Amino acid sequence: MTFPIRKFDAVVVGAGGAGLRAALQLSQAGINTAVLSKVFPTRSHTVAAQGGISASLGNVQEDNWEWHMYDTVKGSDWLGDQDAIEFMTRNAVDAVVELEHMGMPFDRVESGKIYQRPFGGHTAEHGKRAVERACAVADRTGHAMLHTLYQQNVRAETKFFVEWIALDLIRNEDGDVCGVTVMEMETGDVYIFQAKAVLFATGGAGRIYASSTNAFMNTGDGLGICARAGIPLEDMEFWQFHPTGVAGAGVLITEGVRGEGGILLNSEGERFMERYAPTVKDLASRDVVSRAMAMEIFEGRGCGPNKDHVLLKVDHIGAEKIMHKLPGIREISIQFAGVDPIKDPIPVVPTTHYMMGGIPTNYHGEVVVPKGDNLETVVNGLYAAGECACASVHGANRLGTNSLLDLVVFGKSAGQSMINYIQSQKEFKELPENAGELTKQRLDRLNNQTNGENVDALRGELQRTIQLHAGVFRTDAILKEGVEKVLALVERSKNTEIGDKSMVWNTARLEALELDNLMEVAKATIIAAEARKESRGAHASDDHPERDDVNWMKHSLFDSASNSLSYKPVHTKPLTHEYIKPAKRVY
Ligand code: FUM
Repeated sequence: MTFPIRKFDAVVVGAGGAGLRAALQLSQAGINTAVLSKVFPTRSHTVAAQGGISASLGNVQEDNWEWHMYDTVKGSDWLGDQDAIEFMTRNAVDAVVELEHMGMPFDRVESGKIYQRPFGGHTAEHGKRAVERACAVADRTGHAMLHTLYQQNVRAETKFFVEWIALDLIRNEDGDVCGVTVMEMETGDVYIFQAKAVLFATGGAGRIYASSTNAFMNTGDGLGICARAGIPLEDMEFWQFHPTGVAGAGVLITEGVRGEGGILLNSEGERFMERYAPTVKDLASRDVVSRAMAMEIFEGRGCGPNKDHVLLKVDHIGAEKIMHKLPGIREISIQFAGVDPIKDPIPVVPTTHYMMGGIPTNYHGEVVVPKGDNLETVVNGLYAAGECACASVHGANRLGTNSLLDLVVFGKSAGQSMINYIQSQKEFKELPENAGELTKQRLDRLNNQTNGENVDALRGELQRTIQLHAGVFRTDAILKEGVEKVLALVERSKNTEIGDKSMVWNTARLEALELDNLMEVAKATIIAAEARKESRGAHASDDHPERDDVNWMKHSLFDSASNSLSYKPVHTKPLTHEYIKPAKRVY
C-alpha cells in the first residue's frame, strides 16, 4: 500500500451547493462523512451565482411544474433526459421551501411570499409569455444558499477537510469504488480515504477557456479523476456562453438584470433581440441571445472603439430598483467596467459560463456507464451531483437558475442514494493491491521531471486554443484543427516541470495536478464537438446549421483511454408526464 489510510463511510469531494446538500443528508442520517474542499466551503463557486433558483411557486403570476418542465426540455433543445427533468422540476418547489425553512433569506413580495423575477426561457403556457420563476436573494442568491447550507452542515457536525484536493479514484477489479487518494495542500501529505461511497461535486471546468465567469479553482477535478479511472464523460461538446459577461473582464452580470427590465442595444441604439426572439426578446434562452449578440458584433454593429461588445442598458428601471434588487451588479460594473449602471449602460460580451456535460449519472445521482448491452450500468459506490455531473437535465443548453436547483435537488437525491447503499454494505470493500499507485506515479513524475514544460504557460496555451476552436460559432475545419492542437498539448502536459521540488507548499505542483484534469476536459470537449455534425443548443456549427433529430438526438460518451466516442439514446420516457415531442425552438 502506498499511502496512509483513513476510513469514512462517505467521502464528498467539493463543498459547493451540491456537495453541501448531499453532506447534510448524510450527516443528518448519522453517516460518517468527510467533505473535502480546495477552498473554505463558503468560497466555493456556488457563491458567485447571482440571479436566482427556479421553482414554479407562482408567487407573482400563475405557474406550475409542468410549464417549468416544458421550458427545461425546450431549453435543452430536446437533448435533456425527460425522466430527470420531470424529477427536478417536480421537486423544485419543495427544494426551495426546504431552503427557506433552513433560513435562506429570500427577498419577499408585498404579501410576504418569496420574491420571484423573470429569467431567460422561463415561460407560462408553453412559451406564450414570460413568467416570474426565479426565486431570488437580490443578486446574491448563490451566496445566500451556500452560507445557509454550510451553517446547516456545521449544525449537523459534518467533518470538513478544508484545502484538501482529491487526486485519483480507487476501484477494485470489479470496477467498484473503494475510495479516493487525497492531498492536504498545506503539507503536501497524501492519504487514501477508504470509503463505501464517494461523491464528486467538484463544480465546473470553465477554466479550459481563456474567458470565463468561472473561478480559477474550476478545473474539472471530478471529471479528470473519473476520466483517468475509466469513466466516460457525457455530452462534453455543450458549453454555455452567458450573454452578459463584462467586456474585457468576463465577470458575470446576472440575467436577472434583463429579468428586472434591462435591455441589450447595438451600436445603432437598436434593441436587436426584437428581431431574433420577437415574443420574449431579451429573455430568450442563453444560446439564442449569445448567438444574436455575436451576429451583431460580427456584422459590424458592435459598440466601443473596437466594435467588440454590445450594451446592457438598465438606467431606465430606476436607481432604487438597481440599489435594492441588483446591488452586486452595480458594484461589479463600477469595479470591472468603470460604469455606474444607474447612469450608463454596461459593456457586455458572451462569456463561457457553464458545462452542460459531465460525469454520467441517473437522477438518483448514481454514476452510470456502458457495460455489455446495458448502456447505463451503475458503478457501485460512485456518485456525482451538480455541474460536474450530467443527469442530464440541461441537455444542449441550460436555463438560467436551473443550476442552483440542480445542486439541491440532485445533491439531496445523491445523498439519499449513498445512505441506502452504505447501509446495505456491512463491511468496507477491500482495497486493491495497487491502491494509490496512479497517484504515486503522477507525483513521482512531477518530482523527477527536469527541463519540462512550464505549467502556467501550457495552461494559457490550452485556454487560448479552446477559446478559439470551441467558441460560440464552430466549423468543421476549426474543430478539426482544434483536435490536433489539443492532442498535442495533452502530450506536452506529460512533461510539466514544477520548479523547486523540496518546497512543501508548491503551487506549481497543485496546478500541474489540476492541469491534468483540465486536459481531460478539453480533450473530451473538442473531440465530442468535432464529431457532432448538427447544431443543437449551445453547439452551433456553421457547416451543419440545423438540428438533426434523426441522426443526432443522442448523448455522446467520451472514453479518455482510447480517445473515442460512443453514443446512447436520450431518455424519452418521463416519470409520469407525457413525452414532450421535439419541435422547432423559437422564442
Ligand atoms: O445570470 C445569472 O444570474 C446566472 C444564473 C445561472 O447561471 O443560473
